[in-house]
Amino acid sequence: MQSFLEEASLRLCKWFANAGQSGPLPAFSVMPEVAPSLEGLTRDVLLDDLQLVMDGSYQPSHPGSLAHLDPPPLTASIVADLICAGLNNNLLAEELSPSLSKLERLLCQWFAKRLGLPSQSGGVAASGGSLSNLMALVVARQYSGLQNDPSAVVFVSKDAHVSFSKAIRVMGLAPEALQCVGTNDDGQILIDSLQSKLLKIRADGKKCFAVVATAGTTVRGAIDPLLELSKFCIDEGLWLHVDGAIGGIYALSQKTAHALRGISYANSITLNPQKILGITKTSSLLLVANRSNLIETFSTGLPYIEPACGDEAHGGEMGLQGTRSAEVLKLWLGLRQLGENGIQHLLEESIKRRMYLEEHLDSSRLRVISGPLHLISCTSKHADKSKSVEWSLNTRKLLLENQFMLSRPFHNGCFYLKTVLGNPHTKSIHLNKLADLLNNSAWI
Ligand SMILES: Cc1ncc(COP(=O)(O)O)c(C=O)c1O
Repeated sequence: MQSFLEEASLRLCKWFANAGQSGPLPAFSVMPEVAPSLEGLTRDVLLDDLQLVMDGSYQPSHPGSLAHLDPPPLTASIVADLICAGLNNNLLAEELSPSLSKLERLLCQWFAKRLGLPSQSGGVAASGGSLSNLMALVVARQYSGLQNDPSAVVFVSKDAHVSFSKAIRVMGLAPEALQCVGTNDDGQILIDSLQSKLLKIRADGKKCFAVVATAGTTVRGAIDPLLELSKFCIDEGLWLHVDGAIGGIYALSQKTAHALRGISYANSITLNPQKILGITKTSSLLLVANRSNLIETFSTGLPYIEPACGDEAHGGEMGLQGTRSAEVLKLWLGLRQLGENGIQHLLEESIKRRMYLEEHLDSSRLRVISGPLHLISCTSKHADKSKSVEWSLNTRKLLLENQFMLSRPFHNGCFYLKTVLGNPHTKSIHLNKLADLLNNSAWI
């Protein structure tokens, strides 16, 4: 086992060491045999097969890897993932993961406290932000007593993440249950429109079980006005869920927390440390202001398991998932490797890189949209939809040839190119080159 692990680690380190040599995406990939052979394979053959998969993988540590919210992984987080697999504990129940169940509970409480949630707050880890958002809506609906009401609705901004459409389907609701509210020029939800829409659904005899605020929209990183929304929800007696999958983590740094003022009044919050801190995938948390809401919603009793310690509930009674791995381990060890200063530095630097790029983009040629976080998108200034298709496809290709990988979101009727600046290996020399390529690509 030891030699197998050592050789695998060496190969992984070499993969990272070569990160700068080719671009973010592999030039070509060769697939190994897929089906198991009749007899099991030796260590060396397995490692060679593994190497083929590694050689065909996306490289998050290349400085031009700027397309999505998938930053380079932290070493401590990689190590913890390996140990987690080795321990093979199960977060379903305390007897299957004694220390890890406690660690998850305590770390969720730490996050909740840092975000200013009340003392009875807590949370649960989930395999990704989509699942955290789904669980949040299920809890909100249960709390509102509308779990048997097929006409109940939830309000989101039109820039909210697609996971809410998926959640509505899973919850057995019609597409109209997701009411989309318009945004202002900064990409933030319009509270007046929200108010009118709420009056309208109530006049139609319908009830609302949640308002979703997005803290960090997917295309430009806009943050909805959390303080105003929390006041609105308190006045109207509505559950406020903050989808902070992208931006919620920025509340951890004193220098960036002001953008999230009001998050402490949320009833539930999705956080995705995997998207910015370099915690290996998947790492998402659903935090709730009152952790008994999770238990009331998801607890079924586990008749085949010994009770949990004290008043606490088993991990499998706090959320939708049953058996799950201890994803908390890589989050905890990653945070400990960074320390408070490291977390702050990582968050602030990501915003500085976005500001630097923004300053170097030519706004006479490009329509640039951004927010207070580390995301920025642009499109050719005078392009309509069809021209934006051509521009974005050609420019993305040109950028890939120059070892920059950006994504190509469709937003407000046009294709944009999006840069996510969470990669600490990206330096000003790279951003200068990227800005030149983008500026020169745009029609005047
Ligand atoms: C704002 C927002 N919320 C939720 C999600 C879903 O997260 P995940 O991909 O981890 O399911 C995303 C993904 O990009 C997102 O941008």
